[in-house]
Amino acid sequence: GGEEELQARPPVVTVMGHVDHGKTRLLDTIRKTTVHEGEAGGITQHIGAYQVAVEVDGNERLITFIDTPGHEAFTAMRARGANSTDIAVIVVAADDGVMPQTVEAINHAQAAGLPIVVAVNKIDKEGANPQKVRQQLTEYGLVAEEYGGDTMFVDISARQNINIGGLLEAVVLTADAALDLRANPEMEAQGVAIEAHLDRGRGPVATVLVQRGTLRVGDSIVAGDAYGRVRRMVDEFNEDITEATPSRPVQVIGFTSVPGAGDTFLVVDEDRTARQIAERRAAR
Ligand code: GTP
Ligand code: NA
Ligand code: MG
Repeated sequence: GGEEELQARPPVVTVMGHVDHGKTRLLDTIRKTTVHEGEAGGITQHIGAYQVAVEVDGNERLITFIDTPGHEAFTAMRARGANSTDIAVIVVAADDGVMPQTVEAINHAQAAGLPIVVAVNKIDKEGANPQKVRQQLTEYGLVAEEYGGDTMFVDISARQNINIGGLLEAVVLTADAALDLRANPEMEAQGVAIEAHLDRGRGPVATVLVQRGTLRVGDSIVAGDAYGRVRRMVDEFNEDITEATPSRPVQVIGFTSVPGAGDTFLVVDEDRTARQIAERRAAR
């Protein structure tokens, strides 16, 4: 297709870092502070990924967070050929500093060619030394902008909800500076399954991230060796949606079995084709 078919899409972010440095707390705080109270009951669900809106330079911008932290999930997806992520947020606790899994996370992100934003967390704690984190990370090629480098470091407290907006803005600015994120929304959808499970009432439920095209209710879909028809899609507010455009995470109900986390998915023209592709894969 021609260039004109490509449209801007939001960045997809994975949060990585050393154990207990605050990945889960950060994802929770972002999710809570960006949800409008009262909207859909004000309660978001953990669906494995969510999208937030942030105002940057007067424009509303979206960011997709993959809510399955840890580089294990990231590595599992990469191993299956699914490049789900555009930007890595590396969380470093300011009292603890750089630790072995911090370095591992940086290695994974750099091997995948991802731009990195460093969230220096727990600045509320006694003994927090955010400048030391900046110094330590120069050794790994991450030089803060204020020291003449091109990596954005943002001091935050996930627990006390300090400067989360600054972190979101840094993600958008890093995406704008380092990436050209565009996709064609006009084609049949393709993407990746982030996580999936068997729900007692709804059957197989998969959270998928649309990467290209638009996913619609009624589409015939195949993910790994699972297939089905999209009967329902719900967002992180448990609200029904009828279509999902690139970078949108959504829960899909209608698979006949549970896809694997990291499986890529595609939409095909009819149910029969989806079943044939899935059965061929299952037989391998
Ligand atoms: P793993 O998933 O086990 O690797 O840990 P994690 O990186 O997800 O850390 P988690 O979010 O579970 O936080 C670990 C502990 O640090 C929890 O007790 C949090 O409440 C606490 N914590 C997280 N962020 C902050 C913060 O900004 N300040 C303070 N004081 N504590 C924090
Ligand atoms: Na923890
Ligand atoms: Mg955690």
